[in-house]
Amino acid sequence: MRTESGRIIHLTDYRPTDFVLERVDLTFELDPTETKCTSRMLFHRREGAAVDAPLVLDGDELKMTGLLFDGMPMEPGRFTEDNDTLTIRELPETAAFEITVDTVINPEANTQLMGLYRTNGIYCTQCEAEGFRRITYFYDRPDVLCVYTVNIIADKESCPLLLSNGNFLGGAGYGEGKHFAAWFDPHPKPSYLFALVAGDLGVVEDTFTTMSGREVALKIYVEHGKEPRAAYAMDALKRSMKWDEEVFSREYDLDIFMVVAVSDFNMGAMENKGLNVFNDKYVLADPETATDADYANIEAIIAHEYFHNWTGNRITCRDWFQLCLKEGLTVYRDHEFSADQRSRAVKRVAEVRHLKSEQFPEDAGPLAHPVRPTKYREINNFYTTTVYEKGAEVTRMIATILGRDLFKKGMDLYFERHDGDAATIEDFVKCFEDASGRDLGQFSLWYHQAGTPLVTVSSAFDQAKGTFTLALEQMVPPTPGQSAKEPMHIPLRFGLLLPDGSEATPASIDGVEVTGDVLHLTKRKQVATVTGLDARPVVTLNRDFSAPINLHFERTPADLAHIARHDRDLFARWQALNDLALPNLVEASRNARAGTAIAVNSLLSDTLIEIAADETLEPAFRAQILALPSEADIARELGSNNDPDAIRAGREAVLAFLASEGKALFATLFERHDGKGSFTPDAASAGRRALRNAALPFLAIADGQPARAAQAFADSDNMTDLSAALGVLAHRFPEAEETQAALETFRARFAENALVLDKWFAIQATIPGEGALGRVQQLMQSPHFNAANPNRVRALVGTFAFSNPTGFNRLDGEGYRFLASQILQIDPKNPQLAARILTSMRSWRSLEGVRAEHALNALRRIAAGEKLSADVADIVERMLN
Ligand code: ARG
Ligand code: ZN
Repeated sequence: MRTESGRIIHLTDYRPTDFVLERVDLTFELDPTETKCTSRMLFHRREGAAVDAPLVLDGDELKMTGLLFDGMPMEPGRFTEDNDTLTIRELPETAAFEITVDTVINPEANTQLMGLYRTNGIYCTQCEAEGFRRITYFYDRPDVLCVYTVNIIADKESCPLLLSNGNFLGGAGYGEGKHFAAWFDPHPKPSYLFALVAGDLGVVEDTFTTMSGREVALKIYVEHGKEPRAAYAMDALKRSMKWDEEVFSREYDLDIFMVVAVSDFNMGAMENKGLNVFNDKYVLADPETATDADYANIEAIIAHEYFHNWTGNRITCRDWFQLCLKEGLTVYRDHEFSADQRSRAVKRVAEVRHLKSEQFPEDAGPLAHPVRPTKYREINNFYTTTVYEKGAEVTRMIATILGRDLFKKGMDLYFERHDGDAATIEDFVKCFEDASGRDLGQFSLWYHQAGTPLVTVSSAFDQAKGTFTLALEQMVPPTPGQSAKEPMHIPLRFGLLLPDGSEATPASIDGVEVTGDVLHLTKRKQVATVTGLDARPVVTLNRDFSAPINLHFERTPADLAHIARHDRDLFARWQALNDLALPNLVEASRNARAGTAIAVNSLLSDTLIEIAADETLEPAFRAQILALPSEADIARELGSNNDPDAIRAGREAVLAFLASEGKALFATLFERHDGKGSFTPDAASAGRRALRNAALPFLAIADGQPARAAQAFADSDNMTDLSAALGVLAHRFPEAEETQAALETFRARFAENALVLDKWFAIQATIPGEGALGRVQQLMQSPHFNAANPNRVRALVGTFAFSNPTGFNRLDGEGYRFLASQILQIDPKNPQLAARILTSMRSWRSLEGVRAEHALNALRRIAAGEKLSADVADIVERMLN
């Protein structure tokens, strides 16, 4: 199978290849089950490499049918082929030589979706991280860059379209019903950026004129008939290209940029040079079938993949340990892009919610690893939220510490110094040090130390002296393989609010370095002394979530409410309200478990209702205010011995109180923004829909019956409102006739649209309580379900395991047993998908004893599975350790 299971790759083992690959010519003769690939590679021995060093190329499940040395068959004694390598000996000391490898591939049988595969009759490739070795023997590693020529031969009728990277060279007929096309990519690239697509697809075309006046052809390929649904992606692409010129001075570098949407894809999308391949979920949208969240995702992912052209492709990674060099940086870039296109504060709230709900649990559990790991067993398991989202936060902190101008200077230096390189994190950080003169040595610990730092703060005010002290202490919790940690450089944006809501300007701040509005925490313990204050200030700390930390700061509800009402940073207002709500929800959950009375702080309900009603604030922000911390947020705050049923019961009690306190307001918000009329996907319209749909669940609770949500379902003229109403019906009134009718209406209306039915699966998979598992099992029998399609599996099985705490964590352990059997069934076909869904159990140790025991048994059952993939074996073993 794949990499020998158990073999661990270490960062410290890195060394360059013995041979330099100058260029490669690939010829594909496409066939569903017997595709022929011929690869001609020109090599020379690297200066300094041993004269007898053999050439060792990577392979995975390959069938080699020919091997030539300078055009002549290679003598059998000079090479050996084993499971995953081809070793060639007795090669020239200095002269360049050509190796030709013929392989035969079966795209139809490729269910892993790595390498060359077929999806809905379309040939396509996915090579990152190590998929190219499933096509031919190669130096399949990111530090080997060369230019590619690609010839594709295929049946003319079924494959009118033949695409690869770079610029189109030409094409022609090729005898009996076949034709061929040739592509040349002038930019040296690693194999993981190779792509080939062939088939019969529709296209949407446009052009973009770059800042230096070059015209670039833009093409988005989708299934025939779906062209109108690619319009928004095209618009997002053009905005991305413009933004990268304006903000990062980056211009596109080929004559053509293509995006292809496919329906079977393991992840979101892939940045292959000039030929991005996308999960169709992140390309296709129209008002009838896509929610506002879908539009926002399309915009972000189109931008993300486009931005990789510079951060990833022009400058790539030396090895896979450096993955965050391209991913963390590119996520940071797409976050900034979305913030500029939409509302910055609302975007920041959404990012932080996502970070806390996905990355914080990863960092606190058995799968925790540094942003720049030092060892791995299966690289596919390191495409994690830590590498991506925490990596983006680390980049953001560099910008915060240096300030806007020096950050830009550092980025410019990075592009100038490393264009064409396979670089490291050290190279990247050095550019910012050189551009700013600031030592980032301690800061670099963010790349090396796993775990979410905990900053504990206490404060005191001396009225007589007018001084305020802030005692800060940081601690980085132990994580697998890292028991002791060094103190980090933590940049905390802060402000001092006066009783009237205005901001104090202190005479001096001592004890902690301050630049602008940033406090630089660098020691384990530090005390900041602020002088020249007339009144006790309320400190607002970690504004804009300037550092990805947990903050323990004992503050009175009154102080938090003060920040929530007055801070000039909208993000900080949301955060303060969240900090006011969370202890209340935690307390309610404890009470629910103990069977004692649940009380809600009236300051919470008053503040929440007041801000939600504030017409001077944008609706999207008010919608975020109404979305209370989730059950998972409460579980994380509780930390251990968790009972998901009690957590839900406590949270429900708080919701019920808020629903009755705010009923009049919720009704107004719901009716005022009735969502009808011509749909536009812009942020302002989306915000109005978000506010209406945030009010609806509270109304449903207050009403205690489904009529209003059923009416909203019937009235909706766009997918955002329709799916929101269906969600409220299903989650609040699962047994109601109205709900059953709405589910069936929805199914029938969208029976032909798999992406929309994924919403139908996901809504039902998240109906809380014991009954969820039976529902999920029944839905798996539905003709709309397809166990071979990753989107379907994620929508139903993945959503159930990741996003239904009470349904999945059943006290009898049936949820875990179900997941174990699913993992064992998916793994032989698609190990990446199986491993990813299995990570839903990463917080199993924080469950109470009975559930934890069931979870442990399920994990052991997986671990005992026969012939586990390296992907699943790696995850399950780390979770058990
Ligand atoms: N580089 C792709 C992206 O933009 C993701 C590739 C993921 N590959 C994998 N084997 N998991 O983010
Ligand atoms: Zn990426």
